[in-house]
Amino acid sequence: MLSTEIRRRYLDFFAKRGHAILPSAPLVPENDPTVLFTTAGMHPLVPYLLGEPHPAGKRLANTQKCVRTQDIEEVGDNRHDTFFEMLGNWSLGDYFKKETISWSWQFLTDPQEGLGLDPNRLYVTVFAGDADAPCDDESITFWKERFASVGITAELDTPLSQGGRIFTMAKDSNWWGPAGQTGPCGPDTEMFYDTGTGQLALPNGMPDFDSGRLLEIWNDVFMQYRKDEFGRFTPLSQQNVDTGMGLERVCLVMQNVPTIFETDLFAPITQAVSAAVPETARTDQAAMRVIADHLRSSVMLIGDGVRPSNKDRGYVLRRLLRRAILHSQMENSDWLSAVVGAVLGIYREPYPELAGKREEIIQVITDESQKFQRTLAQGKREIAKLSRITGQDAFNLYQSYGFPWELTKEYAQSRGITLDEGEFEKEFERHKNLSRTASAGQFASGLADHSEMTVRYHTATHLLHQALREFLGQGVEQRGSNITPERLRFDFSYPEKLTVEQIKAVEDRVNEQIAAGLAVRSEHMAPEAAKAAGAIGLFGHKYGDTVSVYSIGDYSKEICTGPHVKNTSELGIFSITKEEAVSSGVRRIKAVLN
Ligand code: ALA
Repeated sequence: MLSTEIRRRYLDFFAKRGHAILPSAPLVPENDPTVLFTTAGMHPLVPYLLGEPHPAGKRLANTQKCVRTQDIEEVGDNRHDTFFEMLGNWSLGDYFKKETISWSWQFLTDPQEGLGLDPNRLYVTVFAGDADAPCDDESITFWKERFASVGITAELDTPLSQGGRIFTMAKDSNWWGPAGQTGPCGPDTEMFYDTGTGQLALPNGMPDFDSGRLLEIWNDVFMQYRKDEFGRFTPLSQQNVDTGMGLERVCLVMQNVPTIFETDLFAPITQAVSAAVPETARTDQAAMRVIADHLRSSVMLIGDGVRPSNKDRGYVLRRLLRRAILHSQMENSDWLSAVVGAVLGIYREPYPELAGKREEIIQVITDESQKFQRTLAQGKREIAKLSRITGQDAFNLYQSYGFPWELTKEYAQSRGITLDEGEFEKEFERHKNLSRTASAGQFASGLADHSEMTVRYHTATHLLHQALREFLGQGVEQRGSNITPERLRFDFSYPEKLTVEQIKAVEDRVNEQIAAGLAVRSEHMAPEAAKAAGAIGLFGHKYGDTVSVYSIGDYSKEICTGPHVKNTSELGIFSITKEEAVSSGVRRIKAVLN
């Protein structure tokens, strides 16, 4: 069964059961600053999982483009990739565990409407329970019923040889979400298919979920909790379902091939790569997989507007492209257009947004490749001169030849050049921290940003400042402030760490002022008059003859140049995401508006 047919069956199956079929959201999340890419089908649905009504209803399904790069080093084995498609169905406070499990079972095993998989090869895991949420007994019961319907007695937490089918697992494996730092999440139940190759059981008779033989193909998440900024789980107002089935893995199973790279989602790409690269690359299986995977992801990212750069999304794209090019051992860029063509041949139909972008994608990839080829040739000559690479050398290679750290490391290792691992890792960490800081401050580069979001954050900063003074005392003074369209950061004088209760009180007070819909007014006056009127400001600071004073209702009065929103009701929900020390006697709060 080809990928097109699997997608079609999945969407038909859920459409028939009352689900509205949504288009895939873009790979670049539209409203979530906490992640670089869309990593799951639920991602764009977060507000609806939290209770906002979705215009298409309470039952939704789609096939979602996703990028996850945390496993980039694993690409090369039978199942890891950086781009993948997730088939998903959702209940927004509608059906729950019984229907979900029953439909998952039906889709997996029914040969007419679904995939017709052999139930004897299916195994499932459920959440074992802990202090945050109980053991998922309902799911255990529903799974037992499903297995019993085909004459299989599914035992719980029992060795495979004695009928073990359902296994309870802790939060680290059977709990999903939130996708960012906070948000909807919950216990999940995962379905595994026995591919028949590799080790099935551990010495104790329990299933070996790590050998690759048992392939996780579907995850049903029961999203009924919200994780907050302090790691607490509170029940949501509605019980949701979020499921995700990995299309590449299902293709592996349905096409009975040993790796995702032999499925119809990869074969044409691998062929195009294979036809171009030299024999030494062609016969290096891991290299071939890296090239095919990374170019596939790159095409999809470029299709959604990402361009190579030295930070954030652009850096991920650059790294994917450069890794692919390095592994290809190619010294020109002509071969890339055929690979782009192969990728588009697979995805143009399910993702019509790619239509008409072929030339543009080829151009971006070719430009980046040419840039990299030029420096690569020089960089290789430099590396070849070295018998040992220090952290400093690695930095120079990065600076002068655009060799990402990871590539220098891989390249040196593949050529037996000694690398001072410890020193290298230290430099690498330092670099990572630097780029993290750079991306956190990406919009704060001295440009006055008066976007709607920064204006909102600006007003929220005044509310926060006042609330801090209210709960922590008048000794609180502003020590710094930095605003991006994605969050505010506020530094202030205070001698000790804030308690959870203090943070909560401040957060609640700010939200009360937002809910109260307070008007924001500005007036001009002399600094002395402002001070006399009780306005806060940096009084050590030298102001001109007149200053603007912004008042928010009767709650806050502060000397400031603005701009601000007209009414606090424009702000949204205020959440403190971090409280930490900056230096002795100075604390820092980061907060977001949603
Ligand atoms: N959101 C869930 C996952 O990605 C379904 O596995």
